[in-house]
Amino acid sequence: MMYKKYLVTAALPYANGPVHIGHLAGVYIPADIYARYLRLKGCDVKFISGSDEHGVPITIKARRLGISPQDVVDKYHNMIKDAFQRFGISFDIYSRTTSEIHRKTASEFFRRLYDYARLTEKVTEQYYDEEAKQFLADRYIVGTCPKCGSEHAYGDQCEACGSTLSPMELINPKSEISGSVPVLRETSHWYLPLNRYQVFLEDWILKGHKEWKANVYGQCKSWLDEGLQPRAVSRDLSWGVPVPVNGADGKVLYVWFDAPIGYISNTRELLPDTWQSYWTNPETKLVHFIGKDNIVFHCIVFPAMLRAHGQYILPDNVPANEFLNLEGKKISTTDNWAVWLHEYLDELPGKEDVLRYVLCANAPETKDNDFTWKDFQTRNNSELVAILGNFVNRVMVLTQKYFDGKTPEKNEFTDIERELEVTVYHMRRDLDSCVESYKFREALKKMMDFARLGNKYLTDTEPWKLAQTDMSRVATVLNMSLQICANLSIVTEPFLPFTAEKLRKMLNIGTFKWERAGGIYLMEEGHQLSSPELLFEKIEDETIERQIAKLPKAANQSAGAESAAKSKIAPQKETVSFEDFGKADIRTVTVVAAERVPDTDKLLKLTIDTGLDKRTIVSGIAEYYKPEDLTGKQVCVLINLAERKIKGIESQGMILMAKDSAGKMCLLQPSELMDNGAEIG
Ligand code: 2FM
Ligand code: ZN
Repeated sequence: MMYKKYLVTAALPYANGPVHIGHLAGVYIPADIYARYLRLKGCDVKFISGSDEHGVPITIKARRLGISPQDVVDKYHNMIKDAFQRFGISFDIYSRTTSEIHRKTASEFFRRLYDYARLTEKVTEQYYDEEAKQFLADRYIVGTCPKCGSEHAYGDQCEACGSTLSPMELINPKSEISGSVPVLRETSHWYLPLNRYQVFLEDWILKGHKEWKANVYGQCKSWLDEGLQPRAVSRDLSWGVPVPVNGADGKVLYVWFDAPIGYISNTRELLPDTWQSYWTNPETKLVHFIGKDNIVFHCIVFPAMLRAHGQYILPDNVPANEFLNLEGKKISTTDNWAVWLHEYLDELPGKEDVLRYVLCANAPETKDNDFTWKDFQTRNNSELVAILGNFVNRVMVLTQKYFDGKTPEKNEFTDIERELEVTVYHMRRDLDSCVESYKFREALKKMMDFARLGNKYLTDTEPWKLAQTDMSRVATVLNMSLQICANLSIVTEPFLPFTAEKLRKMLNIGTFKWERAGGIYLMEEGHQLSSPELLFEKIEDETIERQIAKLPKAANQSAGAESAAKSKIAPQKETVSFEDFGKADIRTVTVVAAERVPDTDKLLKLTIDTGLDKRTIVSGIAEYYKPEDLTGKQVCVLINLAERKIKGIESQGMILMAKDSAGKMCLLQPSELMDNGAEIG
């Protein structure tokens, strides 16, 4: 089927925290590569995403922080949007599910299903918190997982074993709001009767989409084999899109009902007059990029909703990825075991493409995969610098040297050029078929093959030697090499957009259409190049060591580990008398200077103002605080500790720190600025 239009969607991330490398590797980089590729081919493509701003985790976070859910989503929506934009994720729109147009679109969608009797209504008993006076949906209820025994399972899912749960399955359920044991109360909800779509979905997926990725097809098959059940699409909550039916006060659409409609509302926001020509057009190819935890919603629930609605197209493919681990452990936002995109962007400026490259090279396409900082460094130094950067630089410098930076003419071809011409042609086609079958890791390798081929050509022909005898041959070799550079400026664009732009600037050319790649007539003879610049810089050990040091020392990786850690909490020490405690003279002091103690990793020498005097303390906190982070801080110090000599320095006191069983440490600071010398007791 020849498609006339393309809708590429990337999962709407929850706006309840910042985004990390797992998001980028699993969803946004592959989606961006695909969208950029289609655009370069001249296709009519719209790349759609936005923030998912409803759902219980957002209201829980708001309650914990003492702010409104709207404040939570405003903060994270902007942060996420900014991070994606800085990484060059080329959305045509990145909107949000709290927008007016989304509320309208989601309401209309529900209302149509309701009006056409595509929903059923049922009264059931659900958990209710009598203290908080509210029903406990999804994550508002916690308890023991019936499948794995984890004590931290939620009403909709157990994160320890990944099982999908319903609140009734939890053992020892408790309210997340008040901690009380909930009671059962009757309430009425609307259900999407998925069972009615069982046969349709079996036909459509199991027979009609055998080409879907094995992980996606496999998950769909196991859901279908179990037999689909009706799913509630409303909740008793105040945060969300209100159920647009009389008498449904206090009820909102379930977040997983409204979120995928966000793809439609965001397209509508982007194209108020023509959005329907995408969503209702059988000649539109709709592709959803998601992570594996979203498969059931995008392959079963949303298609059933779309089918029930009747006016919209279904996805042609859902190339879901598995998960990315970090340094051998599952990424965990609660344990801060993550590389946050906003931090990367600030700490490694100008290296957006390096991360894009490494995450694509390691994308968890068929199985969970690992990101390590060492691999990041190696891929940068031995691939981006040594293969791609080096090739382009050699060509630029040689052309400058022998032809004043002007593209020389192609003279007579030898077998080697004839073969090169054919190889380049085939490489472009191979690259196309990888991208079109969503094999982006392989596609990235094929993209780098252009640079590999170029390097090999230079090594085989040795133009720097030919320059002594045959300048006409040197001209041909550098002309062909520049053609490969121009090819690279096209084929890098979907993967490394910042590099492609730099390369175009150096070559002094505009953007070619994708179809021109694979040809050797891109650079005109006599065309003046700009001056050479390095495309990539070597990454030194210190850079990655700093990043590794930022990871928490001993992250608790699972709820199980968390409870194990709890049992490691140091037991209470023996009782001290009031008088004994009174002997400890603890004061608020200000750190006026701080420096590292030479030849040690852990020690800092601090000068403190105690209000009584200025004195020196040696403290083992260099692993946790940099000297510049401490200067000016007010902290608490035991000032009458017997003096000790540490590394030849007299230390007169001890700075107070908290240390948990995982080895995490932090300074104790007064909650308000106090005079130096204020007594603590
Ligand atoms: O898993 C998630 O982060 C969800 N917020 C994804 C939603 S995708 C779409 F359906 F909106
Ligand atoms: Zn479990």
